[in-house]
Order: sequence, then C-alpha cells, then structure tokens
Amino acid sequence: MTLSLVRKTQEAELQGQLARRVYIETMGCQMNVYDSERMAEALGRHAYVTTTDIERADLIVINTCSIRDRVEHKVLSMLGSLRKLKDHNPDLVLCVAGCVAQQVGQGLLARVPHLDLVIGPDQIASLPDLVAGARDRQQRQAATEFVHRKDYAFPELLAPDDGRATSFVTVMKGCNKVCSFCIVPFTRGREVSKPSQQVLDEVRLLVQHGVREVTLLGQNVNSYGKDRKEELDFAQLLRQVAAIDGLWRVRFTTSHPVDCTDALVEAFARVPKLMPFFHLPIQSGSEAVLRGMRRAHGVDDYLQKIEKLRALAPHVALSTDIIVGFPGETDADFQLTLDLLARVRYTSLYAFMYSARPGTTAAQLPDDVPLAVKKARLAQVLALQDQMSQAWLAGFQDQEVEVLFEGRSRAGDSGPNSLLGQLDGPPQVTGRTPQNVPVNVAATDPEALATWPGRLGRVRIDRVHPHSFSGTLLGFVA
Ligand code: SAH
Ligand code: F3S
Repeated sequence: MTLSLVRKTQEAELQGQLARRVYIETMGCQMNVYDSERMAEALGRHAYVTTTDIERADLIVINTCSIRDRVEHKVLSMLGSLRKLKDHNPDLVLCVAGCVAQQVGQGLLARVPHLDLVIGPDQIASLPDLVAGARDRQQRQAATEFVHRKDYAFPELLAPDDGRATSFVTVMKGCNKVCSFCIVPFTRGREVSKPSQQVLDEVRLLVQHGVREVTLLGQNVNSYGKDRKEELDFAQLLRQVAAIDGLWRVRFTTSHPVDCTDALVEAFARVPKLMPFFHLPIQSGSEAVLRGMRRAHGVDDYLQKIEKLRALAPHVALSTDIIVGFPGETDADFQLTLDLLARVRYTSLYAFMYSARPGTTAAQLPDDVPLAVKKARLAQVLALQDQMSQAWLAGFQDQEVEVLFEGRSRAGDSGPNSLLGQLDGPPQVTGRTPQNVPVNVAATDPEALATWPGRLGRVRIDRVHPHSFSGTLLGFVA
C-alpha cells in the first residue's frame, strides 16, 4: 500500500469514517498489476486501505487474466474457497475484475451465487460506486461495457509515496490487431491512446516522487497515437518522456513488429535514456504459421528490422514471445522456429503452448497438435534459449554494469542459494542492468535498504545465475 493511501485513510478515520480493507489478488500481465494499483487508488479515495490478510478483508477483488486457458478454472476454484469467508461475514463483497470478468461477464454471477460483482477493465473508475451498491443495497451486477473511445478517461495516476524507483505508466489500452489466437482485442477492446500531455504530466509527477525509471505500457504500445490524428506517434512520445529532467531510464512493452517504425529503431541509438532492451514478439519462425496467426508480418520483414536495429545499436538485448503447437504446425514449421531463435539469439523469451481461446478465429481450427508434442516443442525452445541466455549472461562475468537499485531482493532472485544468503549474510538489494537483468548486491552499509533504492550504482558482476547476477557495489554514479 502506498503511504498516500495510508494518509488518506488516517484522515478518513479522523473524520469519523471507518476504514474498510480491500484485498486484491492480481493474476497475469503488467497491465493487470497496473490496473490493480489504479483500483487500490480509486478505492483509497473512498476510505479503503489495502490489506495482505484476505481473512480480514471487507472487499476481495480477483483481477484476472484470460490470455491462456485454465485461468477461468483457477478463478472459479479460488471463488469456491472464499465461500467460507462470505458465510462468516455476509458484509464481505466479492468482486472479479479483469479479462475473465470481461469475457464471462454475467455468466460468472450465474455460476457463483456468492459472487457480488464482475467488472471489466474499462470500469475501474466505477468500482467504488459498484462496491457501495453491492454492500449497501445488495446489488449484484456485472459491469462489462466498453466505454466508447471518445468518452474514455484513463484512471488517474496518484503520486506514489512508497519510495519506488521504477514505475509503469499506461500510455494506451486495447488492441486493433487481429492475431487469430489472441483474446486481448475481445477483453480489452479497441485501441485508445492516453493524451500525451497526461502521459508527460504523470511521468513528471512520478519523478517528483523519486521515480527514476518508467516503463510505458500498452497491449500494442508502439501503435500509440494512431487513433488520434493530433497526437504524437510512439517514437515521438518516447523522446518527450526521455527529455523529462530527473528521469534516468525509459523502457516500454509490448510492441508489435508491424508498428516497429524506423524512428523507433533509431531511438535505441539516439535516445540515451532508452534502455537497451527490446521485447518484440514474433510467435513463430514459419511463414505458414504466421499467416495462420494473422500476424500481418513475415519472418523476413521481421529480421530486416532486427538487422537494422543491430546495425544501429548492437548492444540492445532482444526478447520475444513464441507460441508452439499452433493449429497445423508441423515438425518442419517448428524447426523453422528453432532456426529463427538460433539466428536472432534473443537474450530471453517467453514461450507458450497454444491454447484455443473462446471467440477467437483460431478457435475454429482443429487444435490438432497433440499435447505431448506441444510439451516436447516447448521444452526444446526453452532448452535452446537457456543455452543462449547462459552464454550471453556469462559474458558479463567480472564486468562492470550500471544498476538502478529498487529495493530488497526477494528470495530466489539469484538462484537457489539466495535465500540462504538472505538469512545468513547482509541483506541483498536488488536492481536491474540497462539490459534488464536483475542484479542482487549485498548491502555494505546498514542503511542500504533505505538509501540505495533510487540510486544508480556501478556494480561488478561476481556470479552469473540462470536469470540474474550477483555483484559487488563499486560506487554510486547518482
Ligand atoms: N501485446 C500483448 C501480447 C498479449 S499476449 C501484450 O500486452 O503483451 C502475450 C503473449 O501470450 C503473446 O505474445 C503470445 O505469445 C501469448 N499468447 C496469446 N494468446 C495465446 C494463446 N491463445 N495460446 C498461447 N499463447 C498465447
Ligand atoms: Fe494480441 Fe496480437 Fe494484439 S497478440 S494483444 S492481438 S498484437
């Protein structure tokens, strides 16, 4: 919970209002993490404080993701287990939010009699009213209308008071692409760009409160501005954000290759604050599969963009998303994906087994790659990538890198021994390299956990772990 929410609650208590507690369970992507924060803020203005103790909550929100299957199942089983709490406390309000809510809507209320509210991603601003209706008037409802783009207002971002060094900023919502496997256009609606003035004001506000790195977020972030004639395009927005004094680092996610313009590629070479890490999903190395996926790009045009980027900014780390087992994917198609990975040499990737999502066009195709084959392909992709990632990470051994410190390291960040390190030795402070690799550094002074976050350190890499480094602080740059 942010300190500002604590303050607001204390004020509310002083005014005689009794604070209520909200527990928010977030599933899925960064967009959901961001939305959960906005829900907490919207509720904070109505005297709700967040709690991590679900049993003491007056309101439980499950913020869901429906990108792959089985999540609905997980949501239903979580709701089942909450029944007991609701029996003990009839005033408890239960709410499902996010993409599953959008997709299943009213059907969730019908299936789960003790569920009070279902709200789609466009309804975050109405959450406090809907909760009040459920609590005071026992109104069970599903609010899943999309707000028309003309009337859409992005939930306001409040000043964080929790000392965070990094923050997300949503710059657009929705997706106008028609990738045949993807449910996002159905659950998040059409693209709407946040006015650039609002983006810049929000980043300035974050910087005033100690944030040094922002990640601009959108389902299709690099198509920013295409829905507003008068608006900047994404590369221009990036430059303006990067020009803000006091901000040191900018990142963005997630991009579609079709909207990856020359200007965006050039930004990696020309905008020093733009960090050298680019997540550019390709999904498959087979032209035939890409056509079936309706990705609107092929392998060659994708590779041309990568080559251009490598020529201009060779130090940029690349990552991607891969789907294995898309309908009709043959061994030969899959081999093309492995070939592509070996050729590009990403530094990391996310790989998924295809699962048919309701309402998508791919769901009409026979899901004909057997599960065992999907699993084997997934394992092959991950094994190949692990080799390449390890080789790349190993190159940093004994090198000096700049790390923006964020806070206490979580157990497991630096491999199996980090928990022991945490218990036995000094606390570890965690941060990221420009290329987005987590680094844990043992605190050399007792105040490190309080004073290092938000500072930029020079760190020598002592050990390379599967997905992170540990190192020694050599000194501060800022
Ligand atoms: N642009 C989006 C991408 C959404 S989904 C974003 O905001 O990140 C993230 C990834 O999930 C996709 O790139 C794709 O690799 C994977 N994915 C989406 N639908 C899928 C499906 N039906 N089956 C398996 N993987 C899927
Ligand atoms: Fe989904 Fe394709 Fe958009 S993966 S989010 S439809 S770019």
